[in-house]
Amino acid sequence: MLKKMSTKDLKVGMFVADVGRAWFNHPWATKKRLLTEESEIRELIDYGISEVFIDTDRSKTSAQIAEGKASAAGGRKPFKPVAGTVGPLRGSSARPSEPPASAAAEIVSALETELPKAAKAYGKALDTSKALIAACYMNKRIEVSEVQENVDELVESVSRNQDALSALIKLRRFDDYTYTHCLNVSVLSISTGKALGLSQEDLRILGMGTMFHDLGKTRVPSYILNKPGKLTDDEFVIMKSHAALSEEIIREQKLDVDERAIQVARFHHERLDGSGYPDHLKGDEIPRLATICGLSDVYDALTSDRVYHKGMLPHDALKFIYGLRGTHFEPTWVDRFVQSVGIYPPGSVVAMNSGHIAVVIEVVHTSLLNPIVKIVADPKGQILPRPKLVDLSSQTEGAGWAISKVIPPSEAGFEPSYYFNLKDLPK
Ligand SMILES: [Fe+2]
Ligand SMILES: [Fe+2]
Repeated sequence: MLKKMSTKDLKVGMFVADVGRAWFNHPWATKKRLLTEESEIRELIDYGISEVFIDTDRSKTSAQIAEGKASAAGGRKPFKPVAGTVGPLRGSSARPSEPPASAAAEIVSALETELPKAAKAYGKALDTSKALIAACYMNKRIEVSEVQENVDELVESVSRNQDALSALIKLRRFDDYTYTHCLNVSVLSISTGKALGLSQEDLRILGMGTMFHDLGKTRVPSYILNKPGKLTDDEFVIMKSHAALSEEIIREQKLDVDERAIQVARFHHERLDGSGYPDHLKGDEIPRLATICGLSDVYDALTSDRVYHKGMLPHDALKFIYGLRGTHFEPTWVDRFVQSVGIYPPGSVVAMNSGHIAVVIEVVHTSLLNPIVKIVADPKGQILPRPKLVDLSSQTEGAGWAISKVIPPSEAGFEPSYYFNLKDLPK
């Protein structure tokens, strides 16, 4: 029988049948769970969930829970990888359980079907992004309809498959930050907005605002923009003016752009605690589309290679952004962003606990530490003739493969994009 209950009254042993929220807005991979730890109840409370539905028929007593834990601990054998094996382990009863091949294969196939279309849309949008920046430098008229057309194609691609365009950003490592930054922020923002359930119209506005968000930098002297060291106070004041200048460019040219897109450009550096700029907005005063742009902006800036420093690995950048939870960004928005981007985005090269090397093919948004991967090299670094697809989220508990560390793509010794069904990356 289902019973509504306050999260404060939950006890270990109760079966939560529904947390009553969309997946991106609660801490668990699924909406239902048998509560076996006090920490699970705290997680719900910390997420601001005040009520859930309990299934009394599936709930257990605390003695039954304790018994279940004891038998699980005794019955589970640890995974001991054997060098040189890729499949189920020899001489061990612990076998990395295969995902139902069709489920993972279907997800990957949907991604690979979208990738060429996403690459085409990205390539066109990149040309437009370059033209946009050139027009600003030369004080020429910006062709809004062209930008909107490209943004619409990006929104359509993300609507068909949330991850294909984001995967491209990771796979295209030969970046020119100046031209790709606005576009990448646009892609990350549209993808996050899609995961948050924004309407198509909001996604189009978000896409436009993000494409324009840093145009004001074309009015900041290049010695400040490209200065390798710390900016002086005066230089920082000039640098910070770029957000308001982005708005100024749009208004000067009387561009036919939605007011909310203009807000994205002006407010993308505003922060929750009022420490941002240019208007020191706080909390709810900051438009939510601008917050999505702000998160994507920080992430892209941290992960991109620049002239004077190498970009961070995605999981390090997310760790950094996580540190801004509650000060620069609303905690739940950070969580949603992390859930959308994925701790190991597609194209990441990872070492498995067995020593094998794998390429992340697809994020499992409900199980961020367990993406779908292709095992591509054995523990000695020998490339396997046939990579093996493994859905880390579909293994039975304690059964097998796990990611042990991330390898920078430049040190992988192979091109991760080779393992995607993609002939050419957009230039
Ligand atoms: Fe900016
Ligand atoms: Fe930016």
